[in-house]
Amino acid sequence: MRVEVEAGSPESVKADVLAAAVLASEGFTGPVAALDGRLGGLLARLAEQSEITGKLKTAPLVHVNGDLQASRLALAGIGAREAVDADTLRTAAGTVAHEARSFARRIAWLVDESLPISPAEQARAIVDGTLLGSYDPGRWKSSPEPLQLESLVIVSGDAEVAEATRRAGIVAGWANRARDLANAPPNELTPDGLADRAAEVAAGGSPQLSVEAPNLEEIRELGMGAFAAVAQASHNPARLIVARYEPSQPKGEVVLGLVGKAVTFDTGGISLKKPAYMEDMKGDMAGGGAVIAALGALAELECPLRVIGVVGATENAVGGGAYRPGDILTAMNGKTIEIINTDAEGRLVLADVLAYARQLGTTHLVDFATLTGAMERALGDFYAGVFANDTDWRTLVVESGEASGDHAWPWPLHSRYRRYVDSDYADMKNSNIRSQGVPVLAAEFLHEFAGEGPWAHVDMAGTGFFTWPRHDYLWQRGGTGYGVRLICELADRLAAAD
Ligand code: BES
Ligand code: MN
Ligand code: ZN
Repeated sequence: MRVEVEAGSPESVKADVLAAAVLASEGFTGPVAALDGRLGGLLARLAEQSEITGKLKTAPLVHVNGDLQASRLALAGIGAREAVDADTLRTAAGTVAHEARSFARRIAWLVDESLPISPAEQARAIVDGTLLGSYDPGRWKSSPEPLQLESLVIVSGDAEVAEATRRAGIVAGWANRARDLANAPPNELTPDGLADRAAEVAAGGSPQLSVEAPNLEEIRELGMGAFAAVAQASHNPARLIVARYEPSQPKGEVVLGLVGKAVTFDTGGISLKKPAYMEDMKGDMAGGGAVIAALGALAELECPLRVIGVVGATENAVGGGAYRPGDILTAMNGKTIEIINTDAEGRLVLADVLAYARQLGTTHLVDFATLTGAMERALGDFYAGVFANDTDWRTLVVESGEASGDHAWPWPLHSRYRRYVDSDYADMKNSNIRSQGVPVLAAEFLHEFAGEGPWAHVDMAGTGFFTWPRHDYLWQRGGTGYGVRLICELADRLAAAD
């Protein structure tokens, strides 16, 4: 979809749908008040008759043939003024896009200077809501519903609004690419399939981006005994996907390391999962998919930082060659791990991949993983959990989440949790039969492999892939693109601070 900015009056904008926000229990403000004057009080009469209410997730259409250049108005509700934030606007824009997507080719949005969010932030939220809200996960239907929507126009003459719109369009487009990866079926998106898609991202983008993807044999040669053990049962061999972004004039000494879990299908292995919703374990590569898509975005945005993405792609399969509970593995950093539960595989993949990302010289690390079902139970579908060995780095991740719409809430790490992964036989074990503090235990496990320097772990089990839609601008099942917006914001803030 094209994302554009157009200076001009609401009357002169050509669009199939011209949208604007309406507050609940308050008279019209800003551009809607002006349009109502132009339409002789039509909108006020419709509000009196409760056709226009300002309630969130309503967007009544009013046909205005002749009076404006646009053929319809959408009066998108954003609820009460006190509750208005960027997510409200994302939801309002998602509602308009969802309702108009089957007939509108061009949607234009008016920003409203009287709202409690800056026009640039409004534009960013409207772009997010429109692009993410018009996403269709039904790409694998034999006759998919055609998307009519071709362009989104933000009506503004402000340079800041234009820049925010441009950036948001790039980022949300890549977030949708990450959703395509997560939604792709596991027979199509094997580790090789994901490596191919990563190579396509590099080939189609800037010359500053390059991808290599060592195979299982090379993974073993690198000493990645934990990653390789998870991979050993599958007929679809693992790949270690390494994407490097080298800006033409890199800023400072920072090398941002983005690490992703990409288990293309998680059966649980010998510690087999229950059947209900197991099909959603195709989304267990959402962290890795987000990292790959984010690198595409950062290259397109011409991010001034060096960035290295490292993604461990494998299936966690069952079979005669599968690793077992009781196995003791040696990770790349020499630490030995006793396997208690083969379904705690993500931390094994990440252990080696984190250690490798450090070996490649990354200064600031952050990993994205659908790591624990307990995180989904704890925080549901809105916040991911963030753990870090450095409070400033964790704060930057949390703030980037808040600003971008990929919300993340701080969780604790503490050495007193280390005993949960103490093993009688090896340096540590991968799980504990007690179901206490599961997301923290997993983070404490990863901590052993994070090396020196700031590292943060984002457990996105609840936010990365939806079994049940969220009923806001992410009304679809499946991949959400979680992480792409957060990473782009984080890189931006890190570059500004550097
Ligand atoms: N991929 C799962 C975690 C998950 C569950 C993500 C549900 C999204 C939705 C992970 O590999 C896993 O199986 N974790 C286990 C850990 C346990 C064995 C310690 C879990 O959460 O049950
Ligand atoms: Mn698992
Ligand atoms: Zn998993």
